[in-house]
Amino acid sequence: MHPATNSEPSSRPSLSWSDPPLCEGTPGYVNLDHAATTPALSVVKQAVDAALPYYGGVHRGRGFNSELSTELYQRCRMEVLELLGGDPLRHVVVFGRNTTDLINVLSHSIAFDPGDVVVVTGLEHHSNDLPWRRVARVARVEADAHGGLSEDAVEACFKRHRGRVKLLAVTGASNVTGYLPDIGLLADLAHRYGAKIFVDAAQLVAHRPLRLVAGERELDFVAFSGHKMYAPFGSGALVGAREAFEQRAPFASGGGTVSLVTSDRQWWLDAPHRQEAGTPNLLGAVALARACRALRTLDLRVVAERERTLTRRLLRGLSAVPGATLYGSPDPDLRRDRVGIVPFNLRGLEHAEVAEALALDHGISVRSGCFCAQPLVTRLLGRPELSELDYAALASHLRKRPDARMPGMVRVSLGLCTSGEEVDRLCQALCEIAADPRPSQGRDERRRQRRNDIARMVAGVFAP
Ligand SMILES: Cc1ncc(COP(=O)(O)O)c(C=O)c1O
Repeated sequence: MHPATNSEPSSRPSLSWSDPPLCEGTPGYVNLDHAATTPALSVVKQAVDAALPYYGGVHRGRGFNSELSTELYQRCRMEVLELLGGDPLRHVVVFGRNTTDLINVLSHSIAFDPGDVVVVTGLEHHSNDLPWRRVARVARVEADAHGGLSEDAVEACFKRHRGRVKLLAVTGASNVTGYLPDIGLLADLAHRYGAKIFVDAAQLVAHRPLRLVAGERELDFVAFSGHKMYAPFGSGALVGAREAFEQRAPFASGGGTVSLVTSDRQWWLDAPHRQEAGTPNLLGAVALARACRALRTLDLRVVAERERTLTRRLLRGLSAVPGATLYGSPDPDLRRDRVGIVPFNLRGLEHAEVAEALALDHGISVRSGCFCAQPLVTRLLGRPELSELDYAALASHLRKRPDARMPGMVRVSLGLCTSGEEVDRLCQALCEIAADPRPSQGRDERRRQRRNDIARMVAGVFAP
């Protein structure tokens, strides 16, 4: 264990690694919504600023900026591979907009035959569930009552579909409960049954060390988004062995994907170019790659140890809030590792009311709702399955009334710069809300103030 992380952090990190320099956040606000989006590291901002004056078309010219940009883009791929311990001769890095985009790219890169099965789990974000339904038969392994995943249940599913399972698509960390499936064991299992494994690492890559190859074990495909790993929006990476990306026509076609085009035929380029239609988002790749380098330098083992300490503190604090129901693993000692994501509800209050009270009365940002994981949230809430007819009626109601709320939860998610004080401030705020759930005095005024602040900041972005 790292010497600086075996005690509760009392103030903003007293760690021996240098406090990761984040871009300035909004003063006075506590951000506990890192599972949605992380702030950018200042080294990421510096890298983008350094590239900004010189960018040009990647692979599209002989000019200085174009050649520089091509070189830079290639370096970005190498930085991603370094973080994951990939092999540049065997692995390719495909850049795309985000994890969702890249799962769609992957789902159209794999050559599925009729009857082929993709095994998905009940833990998945919609982005690692819906794309597979469009390209193959999907078999589901449901989560247990706490949102965990049984490897035996996964194996039983492989046995049921023996010989037809082409892929296991599984999250590296649940965006609802922080649960960490044992992806090493699952990789072994998939390979034993002749399938490949895809790991949705959107919630994993900035929290735990992730290696494509560890001894005999190998992950076939991994994808993640820049905006959940301290780079801004617009870029994500998908990594896997080259041959897997060269079997089919790409998901999106167009400029940059072809070596030759006639009036009625085209010949695709090799991966990753085949998968990257249109002019590449060089600055997005720079941001993501610089974040990869920063995470490598910080040492994700230390990041993880610190996060575990804070998560224990959060679990104990939330358990002491009167009327709080916590979902996910009930173990506050974290005997099984999890990332710093904790969902809960407060008795007598809707999830959105709690999030609103935290934001307006206490300056704390969290997320509420179903977190794009409706099957898992429904299971954790213990809601009964509805009939086909009820689902259709509910979907129609939600379509017509966008303000209507599904049952859901409040989610707290920790990040690199979350402090022990911030966790305590959240728990204290929740105790106050539980004691008196009525909107606090002055909330309307604070809402008005917030609107003014936002208007001023929007104007500032476009000034002068
Ligand atoms: C586990 C997981 N997978 C996939 C996604 C989708 O990521 P993006 O919206 O960046 O495509 C998310 C986003 O929250 C997620 O948490």
